[in-house]
Amino acid sequence: MHKVILAHRYHDEAVERLRREFRLVIAEEEEGGLSACLRRHPDAEGLISFLSDPIDAAAIGAMKKLKVIANFAVGYNNIDVARALERDVLVTHTPDVLTNATADLAVALMLAVARRLLEGDALMRSGGFHGWQSGLLLGKELNGSILGIVGMGRIGLATAQRARAFGMKVVFYSRGPKPLIEKKYGFARVTFLELIRSADVVSLHLPYSPGVHHLFSHDVFALMKKDAIFINTARGPLMDEQALAAALEKNELFGAGLDVYENEPAVNEKLLGLANVVLLPHLGSATGSTRRQMALMTVQSVCQALAGGRPRHLIPEWKEKLRK
Ligand code: DGY
Repeated sequence: MHKVILAHRYHDEAVERLRREFRLVIAEEEEGGLSACLRRHPDAEGLISFLSDPIDAAAIGAMKKLKVIANFAVGYNNIDVARALERDVLVTHTPDVLTNATADLAVALMLAVARRLLEGDALMRSGGFHGWQSGLLLGKELNGSILGIVGMGRIGLATAQRARAFGMKVVFYSRGPKPLIEKKYGFARVTFLELIRSADVVSLHLPYSPGVHHLFSHDVFALMKKDAIFINTARGPLMDEQALAAALEKNELFGAGLDVYENEPAVNEKLLGLANVVLLPHLGSATGSTRRQMALMTVQSVCQALAGGRPRHLIPEWKEKLRK
């Protein structure tokens, strides 16, 4: 039986399947966490990692028999993909099944920031509501405003479609042209600068790579509209969190909605004290049915790989390698 390491306990049904098929080691139930576990089991052939587990070159190098890493997330910037490709270790992720959940959350953040939901909730709980007032917690209308989607992949598109139902006009920035999306949905592709300058709401949906580290820098926040809303449900290091906190503190933006952070689980201290930012603990895919499907997808990937097949949900870099 192949040995498989599961970094953390997750959906019971998936764990049971793994136990039926493999010799399963759950790293978080062992002494010393994941890195000690990887060192203790260099004979493991499969690894199921979470987005919070750095799977670096040393870890990949130490696991001499490793054939597959199944990441329990659509993003996989926690994995040294170059090293995995070099070592012929397959890498899979969990696309599609979390698209709707993550797009819902991006829209939820837009609404929460635009209509100041958390400030209203806090006011109620503190006993500060003394009756209807015409100027109380005035927010912003989404209807008629421009949504700038940065990264028009699956989640970006699902977010744009939802936003349209709120009467928002959608523009997007993507590295490559997307003529089908422009034609089918009427969303206009613009340059990054045009988007930043014109959007009332900017929502990030790019995968992280070092090339886009701090794409949202002090200079970029300074170019945004003074009453714009910034939403990040993608990856924290896409933004300079300190620069964002400074812009929010000086009211150079209307507000921000964040689900991801530069150094998770840490959060910039300044953000914690600001009322114009809504902070969530990386909940993008956090619905019961989505997490179940993600977990089962990782099991399927490991089963396919260790049976000698080609897993269906290989990351794009691996698909590219196989095309060559
Ligand atoms: C992912 O899967 O990459 C998401 O960030 C999870 O919420």
